[in-house]
Amino acid sequence: MKSILQQVKQYKKEFVAAPLFLIGSGLFETMIPLMTTHIVDDGIEQNNISEVLHWGSFMLIFALLALTLALFGYVFSAKASSGLAANIREALFRRIQQFSFSNLDKYGVSSLVARETSDVTNIQNAAQTVLTQFFKTPAAVIYSLILTMQLNMRLSMVLIIGVLIIAILLSFIIIKSIALYRQVYVDYDELNNKIQENVTGIRVVKSFAREESESHVFDKAAGMVRDGFVRVEKLLAFNNPVMMLSLEFCFIGIAWIGAKYISVGEMTTGDLTGFITYAFQIMSYMAMLVLSFAQLSSSFASIKRVTEVLEDEAAIRDPENPVCHMADGSVEFSHVSFRYGEGSGKNVLEDITLSIRSGEMIGIVGATGSSKTSLVNLISRLYDVNEGHVLVGGHDVREYDADTLMRDISVVLQKNLLFSGTVLDNLKWGKPDASLEECAEACRQACADTFIAEKKERYDEVIEQGGANLSGGQRQRLCLARALLKKPKILILDDALSALDTATEAKIRTTLREDSPDMTKIIITQRVASIQDADRIIVLDKGRVCGFDTHENLLKSCGEYRDLCSAAAMN
Ligand SMILES: Nc1ncnc2c1ncn2[C@@H]1O[C@H](COP(=O)(O)OP(=O)(O)OP(=O)(O)O)[C@@H](O)[C@H]1O
Ligand SMILES: [Mg+2]
Repeated sequence: MKSILQQVKQYKKEFVAAPLFLIGSGLFETMIPLMTTHIVDDGIEQNNISEVLHWGSFMLIFALLALTLALFGYVFSAKASSGLAANIREALFRRIQQFSFSNLDKYGVSSLVARETSDVTNIQNAAQTVLTQFFKTPAAVIYSLILTMQLNMRLSMVLIIGVLIIAILLSFIIIKSIALYRQVYVDYDELNNKIQENVTGIRVVKSFAREESESHVFDKAAGMVRDGFVRVEKLLAFNNPVMMLSLEFCFIGIAWIGAKYISVGEMTTGDLTGFITYAFQIMSYMAMLVLSFAQLSSSFASIKRVTEVLEDEAAIRDPENPVCHMADGSVEFSHVSFRYGEGSGKNVLEDITLSIRSGEMIGIVGATGSSKTSLVNLISRLYDVNEGHVLVGGHDVREYDADTLMRDISVVLQKNLLFSGTVLDNLKWGKPDASLEECAEACRQACADTFIAEKKERYDEVIEQGGANLSGGQRQRLCLARALLKKPKILILDDALSALDTATEAKIRTTLREDSPDMTKIIITQRVASIQDADRIIVLDKGRVCGFDTHENLLKSCGEYRDLCSAAAMN
């Protein structure tokens, strides 16, 4: 909760002003029935029209004051709550940007999107409710009760007892509804995840003709949410009958006792009229308060989910005095073991020790799931090792600042992404100040120049979100060009050329070798044949290095490598 309140920031004034204005408006509102008593007693009963006009004009002024203050109160509360929501969204976004891969694994993308959007909206609505109802309403109820006491002490006791009974009954309903709401929001989250997953993967759903079965799964999730809301609404439906019943009893009591008092001259007709108006006012305030509580209870789950992200520390942070210069592209693993925080708890890399010289071209091969991606992720510090050290350019990766690592190590991930924008926009992610010549050169090295030349707008061709309007191989070449533009000291390609034909892939490797002899090139591939000409090849098997040598030597010494080669030859 503290981390949410910290986001009030520049809206402190609005947060104070809104309740103050609304309390003011509530107090003026509650004074109006008092004027009614004067109009009845001094005006209508005495047949005195000037008294009616006198108190009537007071009534008008008070009503206008109440309205004006309420108007300001609502404007301030709207500013405060939407400002708070904007600040929370910004803070969440910034926090997510700082997150390392292990933080992201913990939440999952769709959950983070839901927290940024619907959860923040829930908090905004809750803040609006608190500001508009939670100060004004109790103040108005208490003030109304004080005024009724002044009208008639004993009769006001009937009203106070009625209010207390309603308060007890309604708090019981509210406490139960909070628990139900919590469950509804868990189901709601499930529904969100389902939508996100399905819409993102709609092409796969269609290609497997899974529309029908996916719809069933969705219907089930939607049904759970519907049932949950029906359960809450059923409970909340008791609010009205409870209120009305208590109200009726209260009125019967007030009218019965009030009539007796009037008959013995202890009370005037005007006082009773005022009294009944107050009773109405108090009850309607209570009803509003109950609805607000119910609405607020629905946002508790959102507050918890947003706070969780805001208070989560990024798993990877820069050291105190970071190294900001990478001497060369050498890489060394020394007794490295690693496991994923959100995984099975078992090491996916076990006691890895190896050394790569700057400028070498290294291939990494191994069966799927043998931890090839996990190994290279440690070089650019996407994850931290659990044991041992990873040294780059002679320093432990944990000694560098993140910017240096990101600048000097380019990774083309297995699941790489392009963003909506032009070809040039996407390329410049690698180097914002790159000239068109530099971009063209990077595209030539990545063999992307040919297909860009065929596009109508060439470098200004618009790419849709995720690169949807490009072929798989075009996407991969553009991602490679983007990575090369940085002129990194280490280039890591994680199965990043898999969609290219072997001739283009070989051409790219030759260009990389000839044009960037000082750049260390680490290439993961499923096609063993395509890295036979690498300087050395790392063979991984179930998270262990079982061979690290040239193709010829591995053929002699490494059984696993021979198996991979013969399996490839059979295909
Ligand atoms: N983010 C993650 N959280 C938990 N476990 C993971 C994560 N990523 C990978 N793993 C696990 O780590 C192991 C190694 O996975 P990794 O992706 O490194 O294999 P790989 O050799 O790159 O496979 P592929 O050839 O299919 O890309 C697998 O058992 C996988 O289940
Ligand atoms: Mg992989």
